[in-house]
This record gives sequence, C-alpha cells and structure tokens, in this order.
Amino acid sequence: MKIVVTGGLGYIGSHTVVELQLLGYEVIIIDNCSNSSTEVLKGITAITGVTPHFEEFDLRDLAKIQDFFKRHTDIAGLIHFAASKAVSESVEDPLLYYENNVTTLIYVLKELQKLKNAAFIFSSSCTVYGQAENLPITENTPIKSSKSPYGKTKQIGEEIIKDTCKISNAINAISLRYFNPIGAHPSAEIGELPLGVPVNLVPFITQTALGLREELAVFGDDYPTKDGTAIRDYIHVVDLAKAHIIALEHLLNNKNKSNYEVFNIGSGTGTSVLQVIKTFEKITNRPLNYKIVARRKGDITTAYADTSKANITLGWTAESSLEEALENAWKWEQKIRKA
Ligand code: WQD
Repeated sequence: MKIVVTGGLGYIGSHTVVELQLLGYEVIIIDNCSNSSTEVLKGITAITGVTPHFEEFDLRDLAKIQDFFKRHTDIAGLIHFAASKAVSESVEDPLLYYENNVTTLIYVLKELQKLKNAAFIFSSSCTVYGQAENLPITENTPIKSSKSPYGKTKQIGEEIIKDTCKISNAINAISLRYFNPIGAHPSAEIGELPLGVPVNLVPFITQTALGLREELAVFGDDYPTKDGTAIRDYIHVVDLAKAHIIALEHLLNNKNKSNYEVFNIGSGTGTSVLQVIKTFEKITNRPLNYKIVARRKGDITTAYADTSKANITLGWTAESSLEEALENAWKWEQKIRKA
C-alpha cells in the first residue's frame, strides 16, 4: 500500500517512515528540506534496508501538489507532518506560519478528497489545550485560544479537517495531539537535528552534556509542583511514530466510528524538568551543568495526557520509558557529533 508522508525527512516524520517501511508499506516522502536534510534518507535505509521514494518540493506550490496527485493516483493514505514548528518564530512571522501550516493543509486536503476513501493523519499538538484546569488532559479537555500563531495553526488545522470530513465522504481523518516527543531511534541512525541553539529541553541537555553548550538554564523553580519545576509528558519518538501507523491502520481497516477522530498521544506520566535532569545524570553517570533561572515567557505549569482513548480505541500504548528515551537521545547526540 502506498502511503505519502509529508515532512518525512523531519524528526517525527523520519521515525514514522521507518515504522511504515518495517511493516512493508510503500512510502513516498514529500519534503522541502527547509529544516531537514536528504542525509536522513541514508539513516532510514540503514535501518529498514529500503530507500523511500522522495520528492523535494514545497507544499505551498499548488501546481506541484496537483502534479504529484496526477502521477500518484493509488495513494491509500497521507500522514501530514510538513509544517513550521518554532513557537517564538511564529510570533515574529505569523504569516509564514499561516501559509506554511494552514495554506498547505488546505491544498493537500483539496487533492486528497479527489481520491476514494483516503486516510489522513494530522500532526496536532497538546498546545491546543494551553494550561488545562484538570489533569490529566483528556480529548474532552476544553481547547484554549492559543497564545502563539504556531498553536493557532494547529487549532485551525483541526477545524479545517473536521469541517472537510463533515461534507466529504472521501476523507477519513485522525488528528494526533502529541505531548513532548523526545529521544531517537535506538539504532542512532536517525534522531532530532535542531538547527542552531535548541529550544527544547532534551536536545539542550544532550548538547550541554557533550560540552557544546556551557550550561542548561532551568526555566523556573517556583511553579506549584513537587520540586518547583514545570511538568510535561515526555514520549519516546518511536512510540509516537508507531501511534501514527496504528491510527492509519484504524482508518484503512474501517475501524473508525466517525470519519474524524482526535487522540492524545503521550506517555500518560508527568515528569518535572529536574526529574528529567536527574534521570539523565543517572544514565550518563556524571553531573549535568545547570542553573535555575527565571520562568520562560509563555510556559505553562503542568501538562500530561490521559491516553485511555488511544489505549482502548486504537490499542496503542507507549512502551518506552523515560530512561530509554534519554539513553537513545544521548547515543544519537554522541554519534552525530563524532561524524
Ligand atoms: C519542556 C520544559 C521548559 C528548555 C514543546 C513545543 C510545543 C509542543 C510541546 C508541539 C519546559 C523547560 C526547556 C531549556 C528548560 N509541541 N526547559 N530549559 O515548552 O513543553 O513545548 O512541546 O507542538 O509546541 O514547543 O517543550 O522542550 O521546550 O520544554 O528548563 O533550555 O523544559 O521551560 O518546562 P514545551 P520544551
């Protein structure tokens, strides 16, 4: 079966391509390489023994998308990762984010609905919930107007898909609301490749441990949590990748009750920033250089998922521990810096 993966050279996309290929799916990647590299194809090939078909173009180009769908009429499903993802950049350049994340989604759906019964999986985010009043966060937790254009593109994206599914029987869709993806493939052939100074916690930790950064700044120890640092739900990227395949197969096998569904994808466990640091120190068996600084603007206190809907309806559960995710992230960081 032919599955298109937009943004398939990116962090979550590449791990999903691996899992698809390991199950025998024929994958076509579309990526504009704006935040990724064709080197990733080598990693995917090393793990799976198969080089996926790759087309380099920008999804803002409607003519290119139309041409693509004319050439590939036998597509069973599309997993849509291609998007910009930096929260602060989205505040500086909102139009870039609306164009990259919303316009391209509309273009892709327009072409996809011309096919019969196409399955569509959308990368959404726990960002849509903001600071939830009740924890853990279920899919019924109220959506809060996002503070960043990035978060808004995910909220708008979900609405666009929902409305399209209401009138179009041609598309069956699932939005996956990811919590905090971390780690790398256990083989260390693929992983996260942040450009410049990392914004996210785990790549900053691994780069600090390797001496690429002087010290990690822990943003705030005055949150109303056990140790004062903020709590998140960290999920191994391979578990997250597998959730995409299970969601896709749910649609391909007509197990879906409605033609649009939403699922939280997280580990279900809340972990503080200091707990992540301590776990990492235990794995590497040496202290990490860090200091407590002021809170980061826009950060929430606590977010972790109730994943029962995905557990029961999809039969998906996160399998890897925080230790494994950090071990894999560390192995990956060491490998890419040696190269
Ligand atoms: C985690 C915790 C920081 C860096 C991200 C995306 C968001 C959504 C979920 C996709 C926070 C603290 C971090 C550092 C630190 N994903 N931290 N020092 O903010 O939960 O959100 O994942 O849609 O859009 O941005 O993740 O990894 O940046 O931070 O203390 O140098 O680590 O304050 O509490 P976040 P993160």
